[in-house]
Amino acid sequence: MPYRLKPCNIVIIGASGDLTRRKLIPALFSLYCNDLLPDQIAIIGFARSDLDDLKFRDTIVRYLTCRYELEQSKCHEKMNEFLNKCFYVCGNYNSIDSFIELKDRIREIGFSEENTLFYMAVPPSIFIESANSIHHTFTKGNKLQNPWSRIVIEKPFGRDSESSKKLINSLSEISDEEQIYRIDHYLGKEVIQNVMILRFANLIFEPLWNNRFIDSISISWTEKIGCEGRAGYFDNYGIIRDVMQNHLLQIVALVGMEKPENFSAECICDKKVELLKSVNSIDLDNITVGQYANSTINGKNEPGYLEDPDVPDDSLTETYAKATLAINNDRWKGVPFYLTAGKAMSTSMTEIRISFKKISNPIFNSHGEINSNSLVIRVQPNEAIELNIINKLPGLDQQLEEAKLNLHYASAFQQIVPDAYERLILDVLRGDRNLFIRAEELEASWNIVTPVLNRLEQEKIKPEFYAFGSSGPI
Ligand SMILES: NC(=O)c1ccc[n+]([C@@H]2O[C@H](COP(=O)([O-])OP(=O)(O)OC[C@H]3O[C@@H](n4cnc5c(N)ncnc54)[C@H](OP(=O)(O)O)[C@@H]3O)[C@@H](O)[C@H]2O)c1
Repeated sequence: MPYRLKPCNIVIIGASGDLTRRKLIPALFSLYCNDLLPDQIAIIGFARSDLDDLKFRDTIVRYLTCRYELEQSKCHEKMNEFLNKCFYVCGNYNSIDSFIELKDRIREIGFSEENTLFYMAVPPSIFIESANSIHHTFTKGNKLQNPWSRIVIEKPFGRDSESSKKLINSLSEISDEEQIYRIDHYLGKEVIQNVMILRFANLIFEPLWNNRFIDSISISWTEKIGCEGRAGYFDNYGIIRDVMQNHLLQIVALVGMEKPENFSAECICDKKVELLKSVNSIDLDNITVGQYANSTINGKNEPGYLEDPDVPDDSLTETYAKATLAINNDRWKGVPFYLTAGKAMSTSMTEIRISFKKISNPIFNSHGEINSNSLVIRVQPNEAIELNIINKLPGLDQQLEEAKLNLHYASAFQQIVPDAYERLILDVLRGDRNLFIRAEELEASWNIVTPVLNRLEQEKIKPEFYAFGSSGPI
């Protein structure tokens, strides 16, 4: 029997924005097409833009696609049904009157204001004022209550340890930690969800998962595009805050943590926090930072970061960073974790590469240098798990060659890989907190990057230029 959700409302604060159009609405529609949303659901957009229900539906309809196999006519029917569940209230984020109007609208649509998910799809500077308005209107100054009220916030969760603590404290006055769902959408990605399964459900990996057998671990996130359209936001953050502090450190935690006693959110989080607390903080001597400069690719001029009209001419914001992390525990002492994040690079991909130690067996001396094994977990694009092994080349001689044992998701599985937001929104509605970030995790990960962020800013360190479309600073 599939798990049926109780009637609920989803209120999207900042519903006129990019995240709502490109991610939230398509994910909700996908869940709707799969009968995973309750019949009695209202999706209410709230923002300052002058829209009404019909105009809001007009702005989102072109982002609805039937990803799952549905006949064309059935797909249109589903779209119409879905759009009829979408509403819009125009108001200001700091206005109690606007939120009273929102509350009245929810009542008018037919559901009580209980079981409500508030999705903060606004810039972080508006989180607290919006949360305060919810606090004073929906819960009349009490903390968000049962049956359930949940509040979803998106990264960035602050700019450093101090601002993150402030954000945590301000939100804790409004709601309990259990009601706050901090989304790092990388945790919703299929392959990332598989990391723990791969490690702990396969006997062949866990005994080797330590400094006796592993030489190094590389976690890379690269994007071919620059900051087009987002430079105004990005310049205030940089790649260390935008990618390394959240996506990459979350992956480090999953790859490096000890085995949890069970798969409850608390146990998993405890193990992640324990790992993050044993990571040495990054300093200037274990990081390289870069900024992309213009270059010509296939005859086309690709402008550099400083040429973006939203970037100040003297910006020192890093668009590339490569850090070496040391983990101070028995399992990982001596194993470098190399983290790379970069925009305007030669490829777009996210990958975890576990490089095992070289074998030193004299029986292979006559074969020259033998490469070590590596396990590659490709998060995107083309999700895959590949194990590079040494193999005998078929033939009458004993020639050794590197070969791959491949698990390519597209050919191995018939199932469509769901978008991360589908999984995460469904988990919030179900109250499953496994894939969300707890306050302690945030604190531990900010402690790793804040010292270097402070030094980069205080000492006005100039990032090294690298050509747009290259593999970063040389
Ligand atoms: N877009 C993504 O792919 C993505 C990915 C990861 C995380 N996020 C995070 O998700 C949140 C929403 O992202 P987004 O890209 O949708 O943001 P956005 O488009 O910049 O903003 C969403 C809405 O917030 C309102 N808004 C924007 N700037 C404002 C300001 N200075 N003062 C008051 N209201 C303002 C606007 O609505 P009105 O003018 O109509 O009020 C806007 O449509 C952010 O925290 C972002 O960091 C986004």
